[in-house]
Amino acid sequence: MNQQLIVVSNRLPITIDQDGDEWQIKPASGGLVTALDPLMRQNHGTWIGWPGCGPEAPFDDLANRFSAEHGYRIKAVPLSEIEVEKYYRGFSNEALWPLFHDLLGNCNFNLENYRSYDIVNRRFAEVAAEASQANDIIWFHDYQLMLSGYYLRQIHPDRRLAFFLHIPFPSPDLLRRLPWSYDLLRGLFAYDLIGFQTLRDHRNFIHCVTSFIEGVDVVSRQSRLTLLRYGGRYIKVGNFPISIDFKRFSQDAGTDEVAKAARDLNESYGQRQLFLGIDRLDYTKGIPDRFFAFERALEKYPQMHQKASLLQVVVPSRTMVPDYIDLKSQLEQLAGHINGRFSEHGWVPLHYHYRSLDSIQLLAHYRAAKIALVTPLRDGMNLVAKEFCACTNDNQGILILSKFAGAADQLGKYALLVNPYDIEKTADTIYQAFCMSESEQFWRMTALRGQIRRNDVHLWLKTFITALNKDAEESKSFLTDKK
Ligand code: UDP
Ligand code: G6P
Repeated sequence: MNQQLIVVSNRLPITIDQDGDEWQIKPASGGLVTALDPLMRQNHGTWIGWPGCGPEAPFDDLANRFSAEHGYRIKAVPLSEIEVEKYYRGFSNEALWPLFHDLLGNCNFNLENYRSYDIVNRRFAEVAAEASQANDIIWFHDYQLMLSGYYLRQIHPDRRLAFFLHIPFPSPDLLRRLPWSYDLLRGLFAYDLIGFQTLRDHRNFIHCVTSFIEGVDVVSRQSRLTLLRYGGRYIKVGNFPISIDFKRFSQDAGTDEVAKAARDLNESYGQRQLFLGIDRLDYTKGIPDRFFAFERALEKYPQMHQKASLLQVVVPSRTMVPDYIDLKSQLEQLAGHINGRFSEHGWVPLHYHYRSLDSIQLLAHYRAAKIALVTPLRDGMNLVAKEFCACTNDNQGILILSKFAGAADQLGKYALLVNPYDIEKTADTIYQAFCMSESEQFWRMTALRGQIRRNDVHLWLKTFITALNKDAEESKSFLTDKK
């Protein structure tokens, strides 16, 4: 029997939008889609998720068009307006998202929202159960669907079920604030393999389950994989740092079309040294702190005046969540303030753009910039950091990276690491990057690119599926990261 890979995530790789009378397919933004799309193209499976539109959209026609172009099927789980409000906006993005990013102050815990989350998770499970056959791998993704495995297991007790969390997993001290933490953890036990981005997330999870739930046995424990036994079942837990299709990014960034678009960008910004930020509009990304640090660098190091600019692209995201609306106006205000303070004839220190980029423009931005400023307050991985390195030319370029991004575990040795809360030191690091010699850029960037090339998203998939297919005995020994 053929084995199919069924990926289930809240969002499909596309969103469907109405523009006048026309229905349009737009690529969805975010790291989950960037990482999984090339894998699905290669494996021709099925991707189940929310298309971002109501039942009035001609989904089937658009899905057929998509499948013909991308080589894999998509299947919709429609959500009502109330479910978007409660399950997606309320519980997923106002409770789990901030809590898991250590930002308790942004959390809103509400029982109705949790109930809706539970109901919608069951619906995703039912759609996946119907789309799957006995031999298939059903792989749920991210914080929006932590309970779906539990419901799927009730329908098909023997299916192979996996889960991967793209965002950080919190410490027990934080998780215990969530009134439904016990139910979520118990629900996760329905999966055969639970994957996290980093060793820290993996350890936090083990720490949470062993402290909150009675009767959990730790059968074996290694740096990459822990084997648990609970209620007569084995559950594997591991860390699998997600990555990008390095080869694709690096090749595509080298085309003439991208080179021309990068030259145009450099010309339009006056051939200055470009610092680049590309982020979804999200308070976890630390964009205001980044602006403060850049402002402080301009204050402390007048040598940068006229010679450097920060180009910040902010991709619209979760536009109906109040904290995101507030952040948008804060950023506009800050950009105006910094430019008002430092602009000189012919030089604008901060270029702020609120829009998404198509793939050529994205690669051109990576090529045009000398320095990437990737300074989230907390991030599961951060693929922008890896994409920037993959796209650089001649091993020139500098990555300034937050210690609190999952990517720091792999890239921290050769990036310039910062604590984004430390404005003074981040400003000094910005100046250090501004002054860095070509030879230092070369050895750092060569090492960064080598790390990402060796640990690309194809290896990530292979490692994950290998771990999923191991039985309990084999799971007691498992491979380690390629250095
Ligand atoms: N990205 C996008 N649209 C854009 C610009 C960037 O979808 O207009 C992509 C970017 O290439 C990257 C992803 O969004 O793959 C962001 O992933 P990351 O892991 O950095 O953060 P996330 O948004 O998932 O929190
Ligand atoms: C992050 C999350 C994804 C999410 C994406 C975009 O990457 O890990 O699960 O899909 O952000 O957010 P959205 O709420 O628009 O799906």
